[in-house]
Amino acid sequence: MKILESSPGRYDMGIRILTLGRLDGVYDRLTAYIIKGQKVLDIGCGSGALTLRAAQKNAKVKGIDINPLMLEIAQNRANEAGLTQNIELCEMGVAELGSEESESYDVVMSGLCFSELSEDELGFTLKEAKRILKIGGFLLIADEVRPKNIFKRIVNWLIKIPLVIITYLIAQTTTNSVRNLPERVEEAGLQIESVRFNKMGNFIELVARRPEETTK
Ligand SMILES: C[S@@+](CC[C@H](N)C(=O)[O-])C[C@H]1O[C@@H](n2cnc3c(N)ncnc32)[C@H](O)[C@@H]1O
Repeated sequence: MKILESSPGRYDMGIRILTLGRLDGVYDRLTAYIIKGQKVLDIGCGSGALTLRAAQKNAKVKGIDINPLMLEIAQNRANEAGLTQNIELCEMGVAELGSEESESYDVVMSGLCFSELSEDELGFTLKEAKRILKIGGFLLIADEVRPKNIFKRIVNWLIKIPLVIITYLIAQTTTNSVRNLPERVEEAGLQIESVRFNKMGNFIELVARRPEETTK
């Protein structure tokens, strides 16, 4: 997705085309777990797709992102929607999650950001997500993943190779489909509630909870 983030103004339209409009349904399903008054963290909030949905439910949302231009778009969208009282946007990377208070969030969510993190960042982010979630709190994730089935993996690569090349030429960077996300979420001490893959097996919607027995 980095290719779109280098021109954030076109990000929303581009993401709609790339995901064939299916992302709206995915984000609606995930944010259905959020209720009024809850404290929510959106990791890699970008232009605010998940943040705004949660704020519309009268949750108090903190959106963090390392790209100030994406945050600017999110801020404009929050202003236009009259949701600024429910939204706090911060230029902040996952490496700084240690500054968030333990057991302080009802929901931690992230859309299409984990695939942009390094292996170390992903492991750290999942551990931090567990730490900052209240007991019983939800972790909601939607992202690109590496298909488990070898045939689907090959087809996925054939489709992805041209995108990877163009992205690298323009932005000198690329995204990494996340490997074994459900297993990694469990390793971080969270309990999986539901996992849903698309037909190609390259996109996941995952809902997990911080279980009662693990207090630290
Ligand atoms: C593909 S966009 C998704 C944005 C938004 N969540 C959405 O669904 O439209 C990924 C976002 O993750 C952000 N990001 C990448 N690495 C990050 C990091 N280490 N910490 C925080 N945000 C990061 C990018 O700046 C970008 O805005």
